[in-house]
Amino acid sequence: MEKKNIDWENIGFGYIQTDKRFVANYKNGAWDEGTLTDDANIVLNECAGVLQYAQTCFEGMKAYTTEDGHIVTFRPDLNAQRMEDSARRLEMPVFPQDKFVEAIVKTVEANEAYVPPYGSGATLYIRPYMFGSSPVIGVKPAEEYQFRILTTPVGPYFKGGVKPLTIRVSDFDRAAPNGTGHIKAGLNYAMSLHAIVTAHEEGYAENMYLDAATRTKVEETGGANFIFVTKDNKVVTPKSNSILPSITRRSLMVVAKDYLGLEVEEREVYLDEVKDFAECGLCGTAAVISPVGKIVDHGKEICFPSGMEEMGPITKKLYETLTGIQMGRIEAPEGWIKVIK
Ligand code: PLP
Ligand code: COI
Repeated sequence: MEKKNIDWENIGFGYIQTDKRFVANYKNGAWDEGTLTDDANIVLNECAGVLQYAQTCFEGMKAYTTEDGHIVTFRPDLNAQRMEDSARRLEMPVFPQDKFVEAIVKTVEANEAYVPPYGSGATLYIRPYMFGSSPVIGVKPAEEYQFRILTTPVGPYFKGGVKPLTIRVSDFDRAAPNGTGHIKAGLNYAMSLHAIVTAHEEGYAENMYLDAATRTKVEETGGANFIFVTKDNKVVTPKSNSILPSITRRSLMVVAKDYLGLEVEEREVYLDEVKDFAECGLCGTAAVISPVGKIVDHGKEICFPSGMEEMGPITKKLYETLTGIQMGRIEAPEGWIKVIK
C-alpha cells in the first residue's frame, strides 16, 4: 500500500482530510451498524441538539507505525470507557465499547495511506465524536445522535516540538467542582477558547487552570494533565474530580513506577508548592509529554531548574519510555497495544 505524498516531518497539529470516516446513527432507541463513508460533510437540522445546547462529546487517540512496520493504537479500551462516561453525563446514548474499538480499527485500516511512517515524528490522530442530531428547542436531550470517527495525520501539538514551554496561570476557570471537567464534553473546550486566544496573544503556550472553588490548587491545562517531578525524583500528578482522567497520565504513572522504579503520587498540588518542583510537563495524546520551563503567575515567574532548552532528565526518561512502548521499541504492559495490522 502506497503512502500519501505528505511532508510527514513538517506537518503540524492541523486537519488534513483523509479518505474515509466512520458514521453510525442512533434513532428510535438503537444504533445502526455504522459504515465508512467518503463524505466529510454533515447536513444537520437547524435546531439540532448539538447546535443549540452543545450536546457533544469526543475522544482523542492516535495510530502509530511501529519500528517493525505494524500499525497500532494505544489503550483504545480506555477511550471507549471514557466516551461512555462522557455520554452518560451528557444524557447521550452509549456507543457500545466493543463496537467503538471495532470502528476505530476499521477507520484506521481504511486510512492506512495516511498513517505516518515510523520515525517521521508524525502520527495519525483519531477523533471519535458524538452529537445530538435531532431538533430540540426546550432544554432537553436530543432523540437522535450521530457517532463518527475522523482521522487526520498530525505532527507536534506545540510548535517547536519538545522545547520547554512557557505557560501562565489563568484567571479563568475551566471546570466547576461538580461540573463536566472530568469528561470530554465539547463545552469544556468552547469555554477555554477565550483563555487560550488571550494566552497566545500574550506569548504563552497554554493556561494552567486552578481549582474553581479555592483557586489554590493546580488542575490542568486546556488540553493536557500536569506531571511534576520533585527534587528527589518523585513523580507527582494533581488529584481532582474536575480534571480529565488522562490516559497518557495514567499510563505514565505506571511507566514511572514499573519501568523506571520511581515513586509516584497522585495528590492535591497547591500552586504555592509548584516553585519547589524540579521538572514540569504536560501530558496527553496530542501533547505526548511537553516540558514546561516556566510558569508565569501574574508577573511572578516560576522557573524550573530543568531550564528553557531541554526536557528535564526524568521527563525525558518518561517520554522515551512511553513513546518506546507506543512505537514498539519497548515491550508494553499486557493489553496496552492494540495491533491494527
Ligand atoms: N486534559 C484535557 C483537558 C484534554 O483535552 C486531554 C486530551 O485528551 C488530556 C487532558 C489528556 O488526555 P489523554 O491522555 O487521555 O489524551
Ligand atoms: C487530545 O490530546 O487528544 C485532545 O483531545 C486534546 C486537544 C487539546 C487536542
